[in-house]
Amino acid sequence: MRAVIAGSGSCIAPKLVTNDMLARIMDTSDEWIRERTGVEQRYFVEKGTSTTDLAEGAARRALEAAGLTGADLDAIVFATMTPDHFFPGCGGLLQHRLGMRPGPCFDIRQQCSGFIYGLELADLQIRAGKARTVLLVGAEVHSGFMPWREGSWARLDGHVDAPLAEGEWEVNTRTRHLSVLFGDAAAAVVLTAAEDGDRGVIDAMLFADGAEADKLCVPGVGFRHRPYVDDGQLARAEFVPVMDGRHVFRMATTRMAEAAQAILARNGLAVGDLRMVLMHQANRRINEYVQKALGLPEDKVVHNIHKYANTTAGTIPLLWDECVREGRVRPGDLVLMVAFGAGMTWGAALVRA
Ligand code: COA
Repeated sequence: MRAVIAGSGSCIAPKLVTNDMLARIMDTSDEWIRERTGVEQRYFVEKGTSTTDLAEGAARRALEAAGLTGADLDAIVFATMTPDHFFPGCGGLLQHRLGMRPGPCFDIRQQCSGFIYGLELADLQIRAGKARTVLLVGAEVHSGFMPWREGSWARLDGHVDAPLAEGEWEVNTRTRHLSVLFGDAAAAVVLTAAEDGDRGVIDAMLFADGAEADKLCVPGVGFRHRPYVDDGQLARAEFVPVMDGRHVFRMATTRMAEAAQAILARNGLAVGDLRMVLMHQANRRINEYVQKALGLPEDKVVHNIHKYANTTAGTIPLLWDECVREGRVRPGDLVLMVAFGAGMTWGAALVRA
């Protein structure tokens, strides 16, 4: 029994924010962001829109593409690091909205590796015969991580002379190495059981190593604190992730290349067998390193970080959805997916479309 991707869909937040627009609220420039990361713009939700809202849009499109409805689902796997609530997770919220009967809904949090981890979980449900149709979603609303206050958001909305609070520019600038990297989006795939044929999820390899967890983490707002959130943490902007960018950059390039090589070797495959490699979109330069390390020709690599920035658990299904809709991935094509994220977590998966 194999899990085949029967349909995919995505939902991009509506508010376009270019690099130049960010320069209205912090000391940054289009040139710096573009050269160091490849990001040219990102989209943010309107205030009040949640990760589950975006996920619902993506899930409905994926179900439609698969010719199914929520009533056909046996399980949901929901990958996000920006859930609507501390609890409950988004999986059950989505189950209710889609009209799925009560069934298992997994909420997983492996950050940028969330989709690959979710793919393994969904595939195993199907291989074990416990589910025949599984919805896997990667969705994020990162805008809540931004320390930007009303004045900053007003400037991004076009009120370029909106007043900033005292110290607001400085806080925005202090967190600029992180805030410029992210955007809001969701993407989903529907996996269905196939008893024969060679299509579907072929293999996945997952890794985690907590030794360097502090290199990319949210230092505040957690049950290590009592209470888990307080005014001091908010004033110190400890709800914003901290990141040692250079360290993460080095780890991502090494681990993504290693995972890709390991899964190809385990399956007796070579780069020449692949139609496309879908790499997590955190930084275009990271992916260019990995491309070089693997000896991948240009036509096997696809980027969309320039349009959406890093959408964490959303990046790989977003790439998949775009490639399928543009005809760059067709039924029978072999696709390698590879990601690295906070935790540290990383992994790779092989899927025949
Ligand atoms: N705009 C303008 N200048 C900025 C800036 C921004 N948005 N962010 C940082 N800078 C400045 C720094 O303050 C520093 O200035 P200084 O030299 O005067 O001290 C300079 O640029 C270099 O900063 P540094 O953080 O060393 O840059 P970098 O080349 O490492 O690039 C990242 C920063 C974040 C783009 C890069 O490290 C990266 O992408 N790392 C991986 C991140 C990642 O993948 N995260 C998600 C993991 S899944």
